[in-house]
Amino acid sequence: MLTISILTVSDKGARGQRYDESGQTIRDIFSDLGSDIAGYEIVPDEIDIIRQKLAEWADNKETDVIITTGGTGLGERDVTPEATIAVLDRVVPGLAEAMRAGSLSKTPMAMLSRATAGVRGKCLIINLPGSPKAVRECLEVVLPAIPHAVDIIKGVVTEHS
Ligand code: MTE
Repeated sequence: MLTISILTVSDKGARGQRYDESGQTIRDIFSDLGSDIAGYEIVPDEIDIIRQKLAEWADNKETDVIITTGGTGLGERDVTPEATIAVLDRVVPGLAEAMRAGSLSKTPMAMLSRATAGVRGKCLIINLPGSPKAVRECLEVVLPAIPHAVDIIKGVVTEHS
């Protein structure tokens, strides 16, 4: 069973001015799959705050996967990928590539997400865009690979078993 943490990155959400539908969508999808939710927080689009929270959650070893939502676009305040890359030991480009490629048939806007993914310690970190629709579409693409990715990261299985 997977343990996940959800980090919603949104200035308005952090100020309590917007209901966090994307975070809730992630929670619903993983809860339906039987995953435990170890952490959930809404933070503003501030690189240091995002970085600190990702590192804290990855290093406390309570979570297999951190899913972020929001802040992956081209806006001036969109810094989630930069914050994520700053804390990763290794980037896993295929996850973000697959999300973009798999979403292009749904919307050409998929190419505007700069989402990244990778590993810090024994934790997989995946950025998602910040809308519930994008969350559903992107998770649909990567979900089938996540349990095996976590097993490999934890050393439970070798890559080809
Ligand atoms: N990916 C999918 N699958 N579906 C979407 O609707 N929206 C795009 C893109 N990725 C979208 C998507 C849009 S409109 C933007 S601006 C970028 O993600 C970045 O979103 P973010 O800044 O909320 O992270």
